[in-house]
Amino acid sequence: MERLFALIVTLTTALSYVNVKCLVLPVPAYTIESPQFKVIHLESDFEIRLYKEISWMSALVHGTSFRNSTKDGFHRLYQYLHGANLNSTQFFMTAPVLTSVITSSTSTHGSAYIVRYYMHPKYDDKTSPPPQPAAELNLQLDKWKSRCIAVRKFGGFAADDNVERERDGLVSSLGKHFPGNKYNYSIAQYNSSKHPTGRVNEVWIMDVSGFTTEGCPV
Ligand SMILES: *[C@@H]1O[C@H](CO)[C@@H](O)[C@H](O)[C@H]1NC(C)=O
Ligand SMILES: *[C@@H]1O[C@H](CO)[C@@H](O)[C@H](O)[C@H]1NC(C)=O
Ligand SMILES: *[C@@H]1O[C@H](CO)[C@@H](O)[C@H](O)[C@H]1NC(C)=O
Ligand SMILES: *[C@@H]1O[C@H](CO)[C@@H](O)[C@H](O)[C@H]1NC(C)=O
Repeated sequence: MERLFALIVTLTTALSYVNVKCLVLPVPAYTIESPQFKVIHLESDFEIRLYKEISWMSALVHGTSFRNSTKDGFHRLYQYLHGANLNSTQFFMTAPVLTSVITSSTSTHGSAYIVRYYMHPKYDDKTSPPPQPAAELNLQLDKWKSRCIAVRKFGGFAADDNVERERDGLVSSLGKHFPGNKYNYSIAQYNSSKHPTGRVNEVWIMDVSGFTTEGCPV
């Protein structure tokens, strides 16, 4: 009996080893790529991350609603990812989808929202630029140099009734360590809308002047 058990264990181990070997190739297709970072300052309610260079394919939307503008912008990006580009390239989904909210003190009519898709770093360099978007999508490639970003996490769905509250939470936590209180912010969403639970979102604030004392690039 014990021998039989040992045999089964051996067989099972061998089998799963084979399975693992077979899976080696397909796995990257299911890995969701995200930009790399290093945490350089950790607090209970936020952290400061140092990101490497990041390229985003970006859709500018003028609107009054975070949710609706993100949807509109993502719809244009979605078409780009599904072949509406000069090479008919199909892209895998990456994370996060980032919405940068630009509030202008001069405009009384809403905000500008820039909805962004993270481009795999293989498209980063000058020798292999990403396929050009179809002109009617009105997308633009944005390249960020290496920079520090203050990050606060929150769950649930990012929506009009919570993003500003989360932004205020981060601004208030930041204020205890770094001077300043007027910032643009971005909302990073990591999960597709078909996941109702276990969702991960973040508020990002960058260009905080006090960050240089943490060793951040200027
Ligand atoms: C968002 O879009 C929905 C559906 O089109 C609309 O009913 C709603 O009024 C919009 N919300 C805002 C704040 O614009
Ligand atoms: C897109 O197509 C052009 C022209 O055929 C080619 O030169 C370029 O390398 C392609 N780019 C990518 C990212 O495949
Ligand atoms: C927000 O971004 C806009 C556009 O880049 C800039 O003009 C403005 O000064 C920024 N506001 C703050 C508070 O940083
Ligand atoms: C949401 O995305 C985060 C970050 O990629 C991941 O850790 C988490 O498991 C995802 N949640 C669901 C429900 O897929």
